[in-house]
Amino acid sequence: MTCLILIGMMGAGKTTVGKELARRRNVRFADCDHEIVARTGVSVPTIFEIEGETGFRRRETLMMDELTREPDIVIATGGGVVTTPENRDLMRERGVVIYLNVPPQVLFERTRHDRNRPLLQVENPRQRIEELYLARDPLYREVADLIVEGGRGNPGAMVRMIENAL
Ligand code: S3P
Repeated sequence: MTCLILIGMMGAGKTTVGKELARRRNVRFADCDHEIVARTGVSVPTIFEIEGETGFRRRETLMMDELTREPDIVIATGGGVVTTPENRDLMRERGVVIYLNVPPQVLFERTRHDRNRPLLQVENPRQRIEELYLARDPLYREVADLIVEGGRGNPGAMVRMIENAL
């Protein structure tokens, strides 16, 4: 019985890798953002607009608390999950935490046309990604049981690395 938790920046591939890991292990996959959207009936940008980032973080923590109670699950988190100390504690306590570490340049290329990520709707998204990466990388490392380096390689390679390490 394992709760596997994927963490890392926006565009790191948490959802793609998580779905494949769950398929191979024959367990449920849950994407924390999608669960919040399903529960509220509105998009992540709309939650940010109405409740601000603080409101979104509150919902994220409630959802993480719920999901990490499931014994057999693969969870893809939102990139900012580690910015809430409570989330860091519950992830460390309840799951095997896997950090997908992808360089900022690749993250930028993958997310540059995305309108669904409110934190990147700024004049200089490349710089924003670099700032977020610098601030969060130490937090990801602090909670990670396993760190997988992912560059331009395909998600399948990351899945295999994780499976070999588990
Ligand atoms: C965020 C990442 C997003 C989503 C929200 C905030 C962040 O999830 O939770 O837009 O703070 O990095 P993804 O990492 O799935 O894009």
